[in-house]
Amino acid sequence: MAMLLQARRILAQSLPRYNSKSPQTFVKLLGSTHGLHDNATKSKLFNPNETSGKVITCNAAVVRGPKQPFLMETIRVDPPKKMEVRIKILYTSICHTDLSAWKGENEAQRAFPRILGHEAVGLVESVGEGVTDLKAGDHVIPIFNGECGHCPYCTTKATNLCQTFRVNPFKSVMQHDGKCRFSTKDGEPIFHFLNTSTFTEYSVLDSACLVKIDPDSPLKKMSLLSCGVSTGVGAAWNTANVQPGSSVAIFGLGALGLAASEGARAREASKIIGVDINPEKLNKAKAVGMTDFVNPKDGSKPVHQRIREMTGGGVDYSIECAGNLHVLREAFLSTHDFGLSPMVSFDALTRDFGFQPSYLDMYGEMRQISTQKLHYNADM
Ligand SMILES: NC(=O)c1ccc[n+]([C@@H]2O[C@H](COP(=O)([O-])OP(=O)(O)OC[C@H]3O[C@@H](n4cnc5c(N)ncnc54)[C@H](O)[C@@H]3O)[C@@H](O)[C@H]2O)c1
Ligand SMILES: [Zn+2]
Ligand SMILES: [Zn+2]
Repeated sequence: MAMLLQARRILAQSLPRYNSKSPQTFVKLLGSTHGLHDNATKSKLFNPNETSGKVITCNAAVVRGPKQPFLMETIRVDPPKKMEVRIKILYTSICHTDLSAWKGENEAQRAFPRILGHEAVGLVESVGEGVTDLKAGDHVIPIFNGECGHCPYCTTKATNLCQTFRVNPFKSVMQHDGKCRFSTKDGEPIFHFLNTSTFTEYSVLDSACLVKIDPDSPLKKMSLLSCGVSTGVGAAWNTANVQPGSSVAIFGLGALGLAASEGARAREASKIIGVDINPEKLNKAKAVGMTDFVNPKDGSKPVHQRIREMTGGGVDYSIECAGNLHVLREAFLSTHDFGLSPMVSFDALTRDFGFQPSYLDMYGEMRQISTQKLHYNADM
């Protein structure tokens, strides 16, 4: 957490912080959690007639190694190639996944220098060959879990994990030619992040990773739809498919957890239990309609025992939003063992299980308990 705050502070030094005055409590809370940054009022808008087809020189927050400071550097952004789009970033915000990549704890995550960031609102500056659904001046949000629209994964209703543009924190180059569109003034390539890279004035993305939005929408807040809100709401709404009258436990009340609570509330869950080690999250939990709050640090019993007692045996759905293996275990054990009680997790499965062999056995053990209970969430 301290490191997340540090990263947010570093970004805030170069981009003014946006303080939402929105009467809509939910979005306001997420705004303060994800630390929105405003780039729209600071810089002049482009003239596409002058920039289209040319390299753009602009500023970006570049990370040169694991846990190294974000450095404001002058970079070069190439024009978009086939099926790509170049956008001007108007607003961007930070998510815990940026922090994980910044820390670069797994070797596979270490692609530096790199431009992080995946939540944003932008304006299309120019489009590459073959792009017909977007044009200069369109307002867009980047999505890290893109959709080509025609692969077997995009055409089934069972998932939205596209074969080509699915969420992949280890991909660092463009799909078209395996190269970077960012470089330093000396020509050194700068790697991409999560199909997006938004801590820059201009970025190049595949058109499959952009969604057109209404220009009259509250642009400052729309950035949270790139990840925090859609991933969290989608976890409850789509992946868990929460049913009316059911009980839900949500572990970790950052942007993801608060949005998951909103999804559970919208699906008419009758009991929503928030779990967080930060006592200040109690007020946020109440504000988004959670019915109960558990702080694992209070009391001697493990959280899953307390949740089982509160619910007469366990919750119907458990959603892990802390990205921590031990929290995942508690979340799993908090579900009852009758029927199909889905357990949704975010990064813990990929980060802790997938790439740290010592955890693989535990994953095997959990799968033996119930393969049906574990879902990796990237549903939006
Ligand atoms: N799979 C995806 O699509 C996806 C998308 C976004 C974020 N994520 C991941 O989801 C996780 C949450 O993201 P975020 O941006 O909301 O993070 P955040 O840092 O804003 O919030 C995390 C919350 O978890 C709490 N927490 C930490 N340790 C805990 C513990 N032991 N028990 C209970 N609560 C604890 C923290 O106090 C904090 O409130 C991260 O791991 C992030 O990488 C995954
Ligand atoms: Zn995210
Ligand atoms: Zn696809």
